[in-house]
Amino acid sequence: MTKVLHNDRFLRACLQQEVDQVPVWLMRQAGRYLPEYRAARARAGDFLTLCTTPELASEVTLQPIDRFPLDAAILFSDILTIPYVMGLGLSFQEGEGPVFANPLRSAADIARLSQPDPETELRFVMDALRLIRRELDGRVPLIGFAGSPWTLACYMIEGRGSRDFIHIKGLLYSDPATLHRLLAHLADAVTAYLNAQIAAGAQAVMLFDTWGGSLSTPAYREFSLAYMTRIIAGLHRQAEGRTVPVILFTKGGGNWLEAMADSGADVLGLDWSTELGLARQRLGQKVALQGNMDPIALYGSSSGVRQEALRILESHGPGAGHIFNLGHGITPQTPIENVTTLIDTVHEWSQAKPTG
Ligand code: CP3
Repeated sequence: MTKVLHNDRFLRACLQQEVDQVPVWLMRQAGRYLPEYRAARARAGDFLTLCTTPELASEVTLQPIDRFPLDAAILFSDILTIPYVMGLGLSFQEGEGPVFANPLRSAADIARLSQPDPETELRFVMDALRLIRRELDGRVPLIGFAGSPWTLACYMIEGRGSRDFIHIKGLLYSDPATLHRLLAHLADAVTAYLNAQIAAGAQAVMLFDTWGGSLSTPAYREFSLAYMTRIIAGLHRQAEGRTVPVILFTKGGGNWLEAMADSGADVLGLDWSTELGLARQRLGQKVALQGNMDPIALYGSSSGVRQEALRILESHGPGAGHIFNLGHGITPQTPIENVTTLIDTVHEWSQAKPTG
């Protein structure tokens, strides 16, 4: 595995170091908006096969890197690999997303959960990372990731996506001690999983807390942020002579940025509801910021995409510590030419205004 990294501007921006241009990558950059992804997925047969076959995961991870001048690759996988290997019976149903055949429905179900060993049960992820690093050959850094304990617990207890989270919130407000046991168990699993990802070659790691924003302020601190803070404290953040930055993304977390910045994360991911410039004012230079374009803005005209990207770049301004990204994952019908326009706009703006 080569340790030479030809483009480190993403890692530098995560640590608020000087960069020659604003780095850009896109959440879900390997996905259904790319015809080559749809072809690989058709060959694989289903999404879980893509995730669990290192050669296929590596191939689709590299697809957006080969097509666009992006500054980081993200492991192709899913946050639900952990509950999958815990035996909850995961499948992905067309048009519905993830479904668990055996959701957690009692304290006894929770007490029975195993602690997966990352190098054996999640070996397919570690093998994918090692292969991707070899294939990337130092072109850009590789990001590993995991779901937050709260977000994993949402799927594990609800059994599928949810609007109102009746089952998990029912548990939160009736038997918080049992929910805490599950979250602590998941925090241990995620810590071991991310440390194994770092050992296998992940050069930055991101915690996806997609459903943290569904909580009240005190519940967010107690049931989501506390466990992410615990995970971050347990990570081995030096590898290959570099710091491994940690990105924390709570969708809908705009009210809680100051608390999130105390988690130990180097970077906060912002959805589109938070004004980037205001977030920077609130936080000073405590953390780097990643985001925050509305992914649906990519359905606008080419000049509309340009205008929105420029607005975000101007909102942050040329100071250190901005990583351009969307505020959530890119969606399947996104016109590819608008992705090119977006990336070009970030580069043009950066050349006119060097950052640092
Ligand atoms: O960013 C990347 O390119 C890396 C790949 C990645 C995927 N899922 C691939 C994927 C990442 C980082 C994830 C994380 C993930 N998975 C999250 C957190 C981020 C977020 O989007 O909020 C969540 C909540 C999941 C769970 C999950 N996986 C859902 C809800 C779905 C269905 C949504 C959909 O778009 O159909 C998935 C499936 C999934 N994960 C797809 C991809 C590319 C689509 C699968 C397909 O049909 O090919």
